[in-house]
Amino acid sequence: MDFFNFEGKKISKMCLGTMMFGSRCDESESKKIVDYSLDNGVNFFDVAESYNKGLSEEILGKALASKRKQSIIVTKGHISDKESLTEKVEKSLKRLKTDYLDFYLIHWPKKNMNVEKIMRELDNIVQSGKVRFLGCSNYPLWLFLYSNEVAIAESLQTFKFWQFPYNLIERGAEVEMLPSAYIHDTIVVTYRPLVMGFLSGKYEFDLPIPKDSRGTDDERLAELLSKYGKGLSKFLDFAKQKNIHPVHLALAWVRYNKAVTSTIVGVSSLKQLEATIKSFNFSLSEEEYQTVTSFFDTEVKEESLGKFKSLRRSLDLLGE
Ligand SMILES: NC(=O)c1ccc[n+]([C@@H]2O[C@H](COP(=O)([O-])OP(=O)(O)OC[C@H]3O[C@@H](n4cnc5c(N)ncnc54)[C@H](OP(=O)(O)O)[C@@H]3O)[C@@H](O)[C@H]2O)c1
Repeated sequence: MDFFNFEGKKISKMCLGTMMFGSRCDESESKKIVDYSLDNGVNFFDVAESYNKGLSEEILGKALASKRKQSIIVTKGHISDKESLTEKVEKSLKRLKTDYLDFYLIHWPKKNMNVEKIMRELDNIVQSGKVRFLGCSNYPLWLFLYSNEVAIAESLQTFKFWQFPYNLIERGAEVEMLPSAYIHDTIVVTYRPLVMGFLSGKYEFDLPIPKDSRGTDDERLAELLSKYGKGLSKFLDFAKQKNIHPVHLALAWVRYNKAVTSTIVGVSSLKQLEATIKSFNFSLSEEEYQTVTSFFDTEVKEESLGKFKSLRRSLDLLGE
């Protein structure tokens, strides 16, 4: 497993997503998944107060227990008029059975946010020692930068961590978000690398949604299949021809972007984790990356002529 360094800690480039803990994974399977992760170098765990109404946090807390010190926990809370962020952090700490969170993230932006109030309260929480570092999830670039501008002006803690979806189909982050994060040394932890399992090999064009998949109760998978089924066939054919597990191909594609610090991967069973974790030993050549990218016509369309389109995405305009 590869690692990145942050404030004296070695953090794995694979982050385990725990959203299925308490739904598709029962407590005993979840514990096996956590143990296997730690035994194989994954020390980074992503959860949220909202996953299975707090149950995912509870299960993760129990599973980590005595191994808390060797792990890095990210959890997230929603901005709410009913409950302060301080109260939310207290509840997450209790469910996770710990007295500190490594990273605390605002889960989603919402209308009429008071950015200064949010950053001030988050700063107080860091000062109290309950949270080490701050971040946000699903923020657009302007709001990420603006929140940090406000924090700097008020001498408050800034967001160091940014979470958003990034995969072969959802590629909007390539425009502005990833290059900006790269130049500011922001920790970018992307989620949904397999598009909720769409790229895992179990879904196929013109075939029904497989039983025992998330597609049976999440209609987004049927929509993806009707929209991107042909691209999926090309992707699966390429994987077969190269003798690469489709999960490894999809993950290697995300990791190819050097602005991505770590990738959150969700699994629904220990068996899936055993296969998925091996992807972290595998990388794509530039030619393979270009070929795989071409299967899904999903880049953000821009009205531009000449070189601007590729220059805008470049991570090398200022050199190393
Ligand atoms: N910040 C946010 O707003 C946000 C939003 C969503 C997710 N997340 C985080 O990101 C994590 C990952 O998201 P996600 O689970 O939606 O997307 P994902 O990682 O793209 O997909 C995971 C799904 O792919 C399938 N899969 C995984 N490994 C497999 C393997 N080896 N073989 C076959 N199938 C495999 C499983 O689906 P089946 O159950 O169908 O087999 C699994 O549940 C979550 O756990 C959560 O921590 C964050």
